[in-house]
Amino acid sequence: MPRIHLDSLVKRYGQTEVIHAIDLTMEDNEFTVLVGPSGCGKSTTLRMIAGLETVSGGEIYIDERPVSLLEPKERDIAMVFQDYALYPHMNVAKNMSFALRLEKRPRAEINQKVTEVAARLGLSDYLHRKPAELSGGQRQRVAMGRALTRDASTFLFDEPLSNLDAKLRGQLRAELALMRQQVQKNMIYVTHDQIEAMTLGDRIVVMQDGYIRQQGTAETLFKEPASIFVAGFIGSPPMNLIQGSLQQHNDNLVFVASGIRLELPDDIAARAHANNNIDAVTLGIRPSDLVLVQSPDRAAPDNTDAAQTLSLQVLLSEYIGAQSILLTQSGEQQLRVELISADRVAPGETLLFKPRPGSIHLFDTTSENRI
Ligand SMILES: Nc1ncnc2c1ncn2[C@@H]1O[C@H](COP(=O)(O)OP(=O)(O)OP(=O)(O)O)[C@@H](O)[C@H]1O
Ligand SMILES: [Mg+2]
Repeated sequence: MPRIHLDSLVKRYGQTEVIHAIDLTMEDNEFTVLVGPSGCGKSTTLRMIAGLETVSGGEIYIDERPVSLLEPKERDIAMVFQDYALYPHMNVAKNMSFALRLEKRPRAEINQKVTEVAARLGLSDYLHRKPAELSGGQRQRVAMGRALTRDASTFLFDEPLSNLDAKLRGQLRAELALMRQQVQKNMIYVTHDQIEAMTLGDRIVVMQDGYIRQQGTAETLFKEPASIFVAGFIGSPPMNLIQGSLQQHNDNLVFVASGIRLELPDDIAARAHANNNIDAVTLGIRPSDLVLVQSPDRAAPDNTDAAQTLSLQVLLSEYIGAQSILLTQSGEQQLRVELISADRVAPGETLLFKPRPGSIHLFDTTSENRI
């Protein structure tokens, strides 16, 4: 039985429709992540589920019960907001137990819950401090703790890590993932950070302009993006997307763009033939899927088939530790390549690269859909 179901959900502000009849089913105990660029409608969707925004059309079902007319407190939901606000006069323990105290839960139960959640969030030493005596990251963790002490069946998070530095974000992300393994709850998590989405979500829902563009596991979205938008949005550094056309050459279908000629693998060629009215195509290849085929002494290996390689001139090499990101050029195209840093390359060098087998994505430039 699905736990939460959005059925043709619509949101309008005055004349402007910002959520366009989206359908979404979240299974029991699933961690769902809504991800997409700023303004795509993530918070609005979450706030409708929580009951903080009215619904303009369609329905929200929780456990098969329509809830769009219920008050927020009747929905058995706890929410952590993008802009958290703690009670400044209460210490951490009091802030975290606020909802439980309102519900008049027994003191022993409250203490146990606060102790447990504080330990999980690394806040045990701060229980007696006031918010003003905490760092931004600690405050954000208290805001999260305030929701997690609650016994709700569904937890909604709206960018709960947005105010943290990279290190703390990483720590809390791991903390959430661990907690996720321990407590079986429905969680819906909003972020515009695709790394957060990929690492946390069982199901990732990519939104754009008030539409759901694709949903699936991190692996599905990464390996089979359904559109140019999803391809460019998921993955870091982003996928190289090159506009060009298709040409038949003997038995092979070849992708052609300024400075690039690449023979397409048979499966993609077959799919492209099946869509025979496509002329403008976009080829996608991830920076990590371009493999250096030249040996370290720069001698070209004898068995390289030129039709399956790209000759790219290195413009820049950015060292980021174990990997280096190369900015390269061929004709008018600029491509990024992720290389292990041990393969030392210098700007100005021209090198041969080969796409990893199965790593080429092809899209119809007009419809933007995957071929
Ligand atoms: N109260 C409102 N009145 C009118 N338009 C609104 C209102 N709230 C949000 N919008 C519009 O609805 C759209 C979706 O906004 P929403 O806050 O859901 O985006 P978001 O995906 O959460 O973005 P961000 O990542 O920046 O938080 C935006 O175009 C926004 O301008
Ligand atoms: Mg938002």
